[in-house]
Amino acid sequence: MRYLVTGGCGFIGSHLAERLISLGHHVCILDDLSSGHAANAPCEAELVIGDVTEEAKVRAATDDVDGCFHLAAAASVARCNSEAIATNRVNLVGTLTVLAAAARRNVPVVYASSAAVYGANAAVPLGETSELRPLSVYAADKLACELHAGVTSHLHGIPTVGLRFFNVYGPRQDPASPYSGVISIFADRLAKRQELTIFGDGGQVRDFVFVGDVVDALVASMAHRRSGAFVCNVCTGEATTILGLANILADIVGAPARLAYGPPRAGDVRVSVGDPRRLAKVYGRAPATGLRAGLTALLHEDAETSPAPARAQRMTASLTAGRT
Ligand SMILES: NC(=O)c1ccc[n+]([C@@H]2O[C@H](COP(=O)([O-])OP(=O)(O)OC[C@H]3O[C@@H](n4cnc5c(N)ncnc54)[C@H](O)[C@@H]3O)[C@@H](O)[C@H]2O)c1
Repeated sequence: MRYLVTGGCGFIGSHLAERLISLGHHVCILDDLSSGHAANAPCEAELVIGDVTEEAKVRAATDDVDGCFHLAAAASVARCNSEAIATNRVNLVGTLTVLAAAARRNVPVVYASSAAVYGANAAVPLGETSELRPLSVYAADKLACELHAGVTSHLHGIPTVGLRFFNVYGPRQDPASPYSGVISIFADRLAKRQELTIFGDGGQVRDFVFVGDVVDALVASMAHRRSGAFVCNVCTGEATTILGLANILADIVGAPARLAYGPPRAGDVRVSVGDPRRLAKVYGRAPATGLRAGLTALLHEDAETSPAPARAQRMTASLTAGRT
């Protein structure tokens, strides 16, 4: 099969591209490199550098595909709040562009939604039928993507699957990026023996899910898609506070965590824990990597997954050869 992966130079997209290639599929990545890196893309993938809102480019990239994985987004809640119009264009218009191109080709779309759509709803565990109360521009745009996916399925008959990722962590999440999750930032700072900044009181509760489990869900969603529109949580159901996370990481690293406290961040959700039962029921398997095991894997395998020089060189070659 041939698949388009938008955002395939980013954290989750690059893991997905690797998995698809290891399964024998052909992968075309469309990415504007705004937060991702070309060296993250597997060298076997075709890389098209471009914006997901460019209709002609997205159409060309979907020309001969059997399905689209849409992960490209401006994934920073803070940036979306401060640059609502620019990020709405990427997050919503970009999704509409992919949906329209997929409808034209009559192929399915599996896209990244987010647990942020539950927002102020603290009645955990959050199931797919729980009330949606977005608290940020990012969350509102993700919810709008789900609505448009539903309309596209209805109007054009293509299957769409929106996966509501909770807090995803794993190798290759860039700690220097303002878009990065708390785990990569804490892990990086602990390794450098620096203090960890906690925004608010550290009692915020999260559901951390390992990137390998997220890729399982993406691949299964494409393989077992149904007709129509479908949304599904990708989570573990395991609740961890930010302070608890700091302590587990410090324990694995074997160094005490020095904590500094900052003001709470606007739009920060207090409690976010998902119900993974729908995922388990539909695909026969829910995320299985426990937090300690996933964190241990993350802390011990950086050397293996960070872009090797040879990979970066091959990437430059395939960049030159790829459609741009
Ligand atoms: N990481 C998480 O915890 C998490 C949680 C919920 C949802 N998500 C969603 O999952 C998806 C992937 O997230 P990620 O953590 O891998 O983020 P990421 O920033 O690492 O990856 C996003 C990729 O999209 C690309 N991109 C951004 N704007 C683009 C544009 N206009 N055109 C083409 N490419 C563009 C970036 O360059 C980057 O490579 C996003 O849709 C995000 O909103 C992530």
